[in-house]
Amino acid sequence: MDRAPGLSVRLKLTLSYAGFLMLAGGLLLGAVWFFTLRHLPEFTNVPGGVLPRSILLRDLASAAGAVLLLLLMFGLGGGWILAGRMLAPLTRITDATRLATTGSLSHRIRLPGRADEFRELADVFDGMLERLEAHVAEQRRFAANASHELRTPLAISKALLDVARTDPDRDIGEVLERLHSVNTRAIDLTETLLLLSRAEQRSFTRERVDLSLLAEEAAETLLPLAEKRGVTVETSGDITPAIGSPTLLLQLTTNLVQNAIVHNLPGQGSVWVSTSVGPTTVVLAVENTGERLSPRMVSTLTEPFRRGTERIHTDHAGVGLGLAIVKTITHAHDGTLTLTPRSAGGIRVTVELPAPMHGPG
Ligand SMILES: Nc1ncnc2c1ncn2[C@@H]1O[C@H](COP(=O)(O)OP(=O)(O)OP(=O)(O)O)[C@@H](O)[C@H]1O
Ligand SMILES: [Mg+2]
Repeated sequence: MDRAPGLSVRLKLTLSYAGFLMLAGGLLLGAVWFFTLRHLPEFTNVPGGVLPRSILLRDLASAAGAVLLLLLMFGLGGGWILAGRMLAPLTRITDATRLATTGSLSHRIRLPGRADEFRELADVFDGMLERLEAHVAEQRRFAANASHELRTPLAISKALLDVARTDPDRDIGEVLERLHSVNTRAIDLTETLLLLSRAEQRSFTRERVDLSLLAEEAAETLLPLAEKRGVTVETSGDITPAIGSPTLLLQLTTNLVQNAIVHNLPGQGSVWVSTSVGPTTVVLAVENTGERLSPRMVSTLTEPFRRGTERIHTDHAGVGLGLAIVKTITHAHDGTLTLTPRSAGGIRVTVELPAPMHGPG
């Protein structure tokens, strides 16, 4: 914003400091003047003669003028120095803000000293910079990972096309088949990314949904996958009302149940899906057997494109977006997502959403 030039705060503080000093001095001298006039007789006997009051007042006036001048100089000088010292932290804060607007988010003010208003402002600002920096880094990582994942199917398609072009004896049917599957994977990935960004923008309509129905639906859809892997899926829970997007919440449930099936013990795994109603929240919990995981490793799993253990004994080719989507959808519904490793192996994932207000609807 372009503003008309004005007085600096330092100058304003200096002027008001000097002004108040002059005012106080003036009042004091005025009081002396007043009492002199009132109580001193016209002529006073002093040793060696008579002193007229007018002379005394004249002397007083010139002394008062000198004192006021001194006060003015003192007020201006002292005020300038004091105001400068008071406002010094502000300069540091302004410099840091300017740096941040140029895109350098790593700089911190780190104002030393005890707590006061300026230090509070500086600390809040530092905290904001830190969060902003982490957020920007996360976005960059996300963009790099997304581009990398999208490039892979494109590169595979190109290789397939090159082979088909240079080798006329190649079985075109097989090439087409592989091109088709690679293409489908690319579309799925793009759609997943779109879903993620839509959930992040919270641009969806909210309605009443029953989490227990969603859990049953997800379990039913994924039953063939569970059977193929020899994993049993159990669902339990009464009506669990929540407010949100049925599509997104079904996606969330499906991702969790799919993870619980896929990242499980092959041939003998179990999955438990349950829903419950608390005093202020409703909870969807998905628990599964599996490999033992450390809490530290579990805490990183919700990051986009994060894949856990290298898949040696599974053929599941996920990109690592499932839990990132769950997290985004949970946050878009003002809920909390918790992942806890089970001591016997596998993990327990809970999604806690605010319970809907009572009333019809
Ligand atoms: N229920 C679970 N039990 C054990 N490990 C899990 C579970 N869910 C997720 N993980 C671990 O967390 C990682 C990230 O999960 P996420 O769902 O984000 O990605 P993915 O399943 O690998 O791929 P995608 O879901 O995109 O197909 C997985 O690779 C897996 O190692
Ligand atoms: Mg997954």
